Amino acid sequence: MTTEDNISKAHILTEALPYIQRFYGKTIVIKYGGHAMKDERLKAQFAQDVALMKYVGINPVIVHGGGPQISRTLERMGIQPTFIEGQRVTDDETMSVVEMVLVGTVNKEIVGLINSHGARAVGLSGRDGDLIQAERMKIYRYSGDDRPTEIIDIGRVGKVVRVNTDVLTALEKAGFVPVIAPVGVGPGGQAYNINADLVAGAIAAALKAEKLILLTDIMGVMKENPNGERELIPSMTVTDVKKALEDGTATGGMIPKLKSCLKTLEQGAKKAHIIDGRQEHAILLELFTDSGIGTEITGED
Ligand SMILES: Nc1ncnc2c1ncn2[C@@H]1O[C@H](COP(=O)(O)OP(=O)(O)OP(=O)(O)O)[C@@H](O)[C@H]1O
Ligand SMILES: [Mg+2]
Repeated sequence: MTTEDNISKAHILTEALPYIQRFYGKTIVIKYGGHAMKDERLKAQFAQDVALMKYVGINPVIVHGGGPQISRTLERMGIQPTFIEGQRVTDDETMSVVEMVLVGTVNKEIVGLINSHGARAVGLSGRDGDLIQAERMKIYRYSGDDRPTEIIDIGRVGKVVRVNTDVLTALEKAGFVPVIAPVGVGPGGQAYNINADLVAGAIAAALKAEKLILLTDIMGVMKENPNGERELIPSMTVTDVKKALEDGTATGGMIPKLKSCLKTLEQGAKKAHIIDGRQEHAILLELFTDSGIGTEITGED
């Protein structure tokens, strides 16, 4: 290692200093997407980044997905998946598998990874401490001007009604990193499967987080340029996001992400980010470098 190498390392640390000062003591909610969880090396780096955040005095709160893991387990059990308007139809039997995979397997794996990198993580589902109160989500389908709108029941798919942050505050005080599975609980104690982006947005809004970071399997929000090529939108305002939701720029899995970003910004967060979880150390690059990565969404126009 030459002196020059060491000096460039020192530069990296000093570049991070203003960001560490800015985020010290602040809460940052991170959605860890099912698709960004595939690679062992990336998983370890994610856990390292979270541990580093905690050690420099930031309070990371993790919300995870798990779509691919759920699909694999259902397939192995011979349960055929059905999707309506991009949402998995979840009957009672499917829901018990969903809860088992998200809470029992995926959640515990992430907790273990973070712990093995020196921070102390605690796994939670929406049931714990009544964290995520939910109700059944209905899908409305237009079926022609002369017919009433069809209401489709997709089973135990929920939306967040209320977040009770007591358990998160207690964990933060005790120095733990909460890792949350996107399962909500209904008034009768029944479990609901909720899109993890929507859970992350609701948690970030309830905690009045400084930032929401959504890790995914694409560079960020993409749009088509005049030459017909897809390119990254590096920066968007709330108005741009509303437009992207209306004009069809955002489809499928991008829709709940953008909605969550809007919700978090409306509750006073300064910024929300949609970044590429396939990029090594994506979180550190976003938080601690001058350039940042992915799409940054701000409240100001
Ligand atoms: N304008 C857009 N820009 C970028 N991606 C888009 C856009 N519109 C739709 N998408 C889709 O959204 C996907 C990301 O959402 P998706 O739900 O598939 O992943 P995830 O949320 O990271 O993982 P999981 O749902 O398993 O937690 C992208 O892979 C892309 O196919
Ligand atoms: Mg998704």
